[in-house]
Amino acid sequence: MAKLGIVIPAAGQGKRMGAGYNKQFLTLMGEPMLAHTVRLFEQSSYVSEIVVVGAEADVPIIVELVHHHKFDKVKICKGGVQRQDSVRAGVQALSSAIQRIVVHDGARPLLTLEDFHRFLDETEKFKAAIMAIPVKDTIKQVHETGKVIATLTRERLRAVQTPQIFDRAILAEAHYQAVSAGYYGTDDASLLEWMGYPVQVIEGSQENIKVTTPEDLWLAERILAMREARSSTRGVGCTMEYETRSTR
Ligand code: CTP
Ligand code: MG
Repeated sequence: MAKLGIVIPAAGQGKRMGAGYNKQFLTLMGEPMLAHTVRLFEQSSYVSEIVVVGAEADVPIIVELVHHHKFDKVKICKGGVQRQDSVRAGVQALSSAIQRIVVHDGARPLLTLEDFHRFLDETEKFKAAIMAIPVKDTIKQVHETGKVIATLTRERLRAVQTPQIFDRAILAEAHYQAVSAGYYGTDDASLLEWMGYPVQVIEGSQENIKVTTPEDLWLAERILAMREARSSTRGVGCTMEYETRSTR
């Protein structure tokens, strides 16, 4: 397998969260959101290097977070005005040995190791692939006046998530072409689509939410608490089974 590097854009301002500071430092189960996100990739044996992209003012906090959690695959670099500028900086900061890149939002702390490894497995033969889920709502295209233009076919629609994986050469080329043309897309895959490259969709998870508004923070906490309860119940089950056997 080609050497894998992760770019985590975390240089936003979290305006929609309204916390007054970068939402990635808000805590979930007592730990900053960003620590949850980074830990997943630290734990994966397939990952060689991680670049966390932070806003200039946040860099000292990220340095402290990385030291505190003893994350040893992490490099930190400065982000840009738009997410796309931050990802481009992150790609450039990866060492030259990295040939495959996963981009994953710092604000998606609920990706599981199991889903990440399934994603790596299912995307191995593609030069560009993204995680996405079927949409639940009916989606309509509307005119700026509010008048409906069309109802889109739901079966063909997907809500796009990260991780997104790319061959490094293709991602770097797409970012280079986009910045030269002044083109901005809302995710990295859209830059490849703009250049005419095929992008494969892999089924994501409903739990892999992006924490954007205060309700998402509440939901993320609930999902993590549910996972913790599930794993501790499993632990109790094992103990009981062990005790039953040992007293037989
Ligand atoms: N991001 C980034 N650099 C930017 C803007 C965003 O690295 N200039 C990152 C965010 O930190 C986040 C991810 O891109 O992890 C997805 O962006 P979003 O959820 O929109 O986060 P924010 O831009 O921080 O939030 P908002 O749009 O509400 O201000
Ligand atoms: Mg944003």
